[in-house]
Parts: sequence; structure tokens; C-alpha cells
Amino acid sequence: MSTTLPLEPIEKASRDELAALQLERLKWSLNHAYENSPVYRRKFDEAGVHPSQVQSLADIARFPFTTKKDLRDNYPFGMFAVPQDQISRIHASSGTTGKPTVVAYTARDIDTWANLVARSVRAAGARRGDKVHISYGYGLFTGGLGAHYGAERAGLTVIPFGGGQTEKQVQLIQDFRPDIIMVTPSYMLAIADEMERQGIDPATCSLRIGIFGAEPWTNDMRRAIEQRMGITAVDIYGLSEVMGPGVASECAETKDGPTIWEDHFYPEIINPETGEVLPDGELGELVFTSLTKEALPIVRYRTRDLTRLLPGTARTMRRMEKITGRSDDMLIIRGVNVFPTQIEELLLKQPALAPHYQIVLTKEGPMDVMSLNCEPCPETAPDYGALDAASKALAYDIKALIGVTCKVNVLEVNGIERSVGKAKRVIDKRPK
Ligand code: DLL
Repeated sequence: MSTTLPLEPIEKASRDELAALQLERLKWSLNHAYENSPVYRRKFDEAGVHPSQVQSLADIARFPFTTKKDLRDNYPFGMFAVPQDQISRIHASSGTTGKPTVVAYTARDIDTWANLVARSVRAAGARRGDKVHISYGYGLFTGGLGAHYGAERAGLTVIPFGGGQTEKQVQLIQDFRPDIIMVTPSYMLAIADEMERQGIDPATCSLRIGIFGAEPWTNDMRRAIEQRMGITAVDIYGLSEVMGPGVASECAETKDGPTIWEDHFYPEIINPETGEVLPDGELGELVFTSLTKEALPIVRYRTRDLTRLLPGTARTMRRMEKITGRSDDMLIIRGVNVFPTQIEELLLKQPALAPHYQIVLTKEGPMDVMSLNCEPCPETAPDYGALDAASKALAYDIKALIGVTCKVNVLEVNGIERSVGKAKRVIDKRPK
């Protein structure tokens, strides 16, 4: 019987020990940013703060926020805090508009990152001898290489597939018999569909664990994937500006939201309107300060992700509630705030419908109109009566529970374009 892998001492440290380490590292990180990055020096000077004023962790609230705009304004390398010859890797996230956001790592940063993804993989329940199939994209996206280095660091066998070639993914999963898959939840569904298309029951495949992230997904989606694939599904969170995958990750024994690897990233929740720091437990925007990063220290980075900080359960480190959306993803339809994950939750309550969906926004005169494109499950596709009832029930639920009128269109099977990475949930056809 293979065994699970041991925890690091810091994962078992008391809150006091952790806080002492965080304070020491916070002082180092702010100093490093101030001394070595002209951008941070200017920002701190303008705000009238100096790293030497930090006496407690709460003092972080005196420092200015960093946003994506800071990175864009200093494109490509202006925020880096080490000389070029110390940078061993560059990644970038494409974003939807404009220039990419460029991030950098020293050799030590890469080492830390590998350790944290290894910790995440262990938290997911990896065992010695496991094989890990990686379907996150390789390249400038942090998903593939981040997962790769971490799984390798955990001592596991890595199968570096990357995104795309879904038929071949299925073939290799059948032939190589991996135990773990690391992939976006939406692409996991596309792989499961392809298995079924080839006559393979996904539940019979070799996979035991799925480590899913890079996009919002609901607990209903978790249950749907777990059931269909016969696996344990855990949530891995991260963003390139802060590191990449493995800023936080869920523990298999509790599956109650990602544990934040607080020895390397100091989290805060703020009111997105006022910037005020909110107490643990309150919903707001997640903000991170890196505690050990060398090449690109990040101070109070506004993630735009909405969540709350929760007490530790499987670890002493705090958790974040599963992310339900980014402030950028929030749709305002006739005055009602809607997140795509709210629609996902209701869609998954309709067994006749498949879990693929896209929200389409149009305008009728001055009014915004929301429609939902979804698909039948292949087994129910021929049953028009069942599909009609399901789409009516879903439209009713959306109106009753979210408060918006939504036209539900059931397309044909495979009618919604599959992404091989992050799913595109909203198509905005409203004139700008
Ligand atoms: O998506 C890093 C990553 C790769 C995380 C693989 C997990 C797995 P970016 O492309 O910079 O980096 O996008 C970061 O994706 O701010 C969130 O809005 C979203 N996101 C990432 N993980 C999750 C998650 C990677 N588990 C942005 N749940 C973040 C919800 C997530 N949203």
C-alpha cells in the first residue's frame, strides 16, 4: 500500500510561530521592494511610508496597493527588483485586452514555487509512486510549468501533456494510467466527454485525484466531476502576479476551500470600494503581499477575486472560501449583480442538461438581455419534452433565485465551444 507524503514542519506550526515568521519576512520583503525596485520606492515615498515603520503585521495596511495597472505601466520589466542576470524565468498572462502582464522569478523563486506546488499536491492526497498527468497549458501561462515543477518536486512521475489534443489526452490517460490529473475543471469536462465519445466510462479510468483551478468552479461542479470521474476533486488557486498555481490549495481531508500558504503570502480582504481592510470572515477583495519573492516582490496586490478568509482546519494556516467570482466577471443586468458561478450552480441542478454553458449578453433597445446557452446530456438529447421542462425550470430558478430574466437556449450536444484552458463563460455582444 503506498503512503501519503509527510507535511512540512511549518504546516504544523502554531499561529504564533507562523505570525512571527510572517512579520520577519514581511519586513524583509518590504525592504527589498523599497531598496531594489524604483517603482515601489516611488509609491512608498508618495504614500509617506517606509518599511522601517513596520512593527506588526497589521502595519501592512499603511502601504499602498499594487494593481495590474502598475505592472502594465511598467511593461515589460520595470517592476523587477533584481538585475537581469539573476532572473531565471519569465511568465506572462495574456489578459483580454492590451499588453500582457509580465512576471519574473529568480532561481530561488522557482525553488519556492516548486516547493509550494509540491505541498499542494501532497495536500491533495498524493502518494509515493503516483503518476501526474498535467493538462494545464505549458508556455508563458504559469499553469503547466508551475504544476510540472511542483509534481516533480513532490517526487512523483510527471506526464507533461499540456492543453489540447483531447483525443490523445484520453488515449494516454488510458495507456499510462495516471493517478492524478492537474487541469482546469472546464477542460476536465471536455476530456470526460471525449472519453464517453470513445465508449469509455470516465469513472473506470485510473485517476484518483483531480487538482483543478485557474478558473472559478462551484461545489456543485465539484460533485458532478467527482461522481462522473470517480475521483476526489480539490481546488488549487493562484495567479501569475503573486506566483502562479499553488498560492493556496485545498486539503483532501476537508475540501473546505484552499488553505493559503501563509508562510509565503500574506492575505488581506478589503472592501473593494473603499480599500478598507475587513475582518476575517467578511466577503471582499483578496489582496496579497509576497513574503519571500525576490525577482518581483508584490505588495498588497489587488487580485479582484472576491472571497473571505476563514480559520484553518486541516492546517493552522487560514483558508479562503472557494472563489465565486472576480469583480471583473460580475455582470450587472438591469441593476442585478450576477456572477457566472451563480448560473452554474442552478444549471447543475438540472440532470437533463450538461455542465457546459455560456452566457450571452445583448441589447434590446436600451435594455440588457441575458441568455444562457447550454447543452443536453447526450442521453437526454433526443427527449425534447425533458429538455423543454429542464430549460423552463432553469429559467424559473434564475429568475426566482438570482432575480434576472434569462432566456435559456438548449443547443445540440457539443454546441458550446470547448476551451482547452480557462473557459470563456461570458460573450458580451452589447455595443460598446
Ligand atoms: O490561473 C494560475 C493557476 C494555474 C492557478 C493553474 C491554478 C491552476 P492567471 O492566469 O494569472 O494564473 O489567472 C489568475 O485566475 O486571479 C482568479 O481569478 C483565477 N483563478 C485561479 N485559480 C482559481 C481557482 C492562473 N482555484 C486568476 N478558483 C485569479 C477560482 C481561480 N479562480
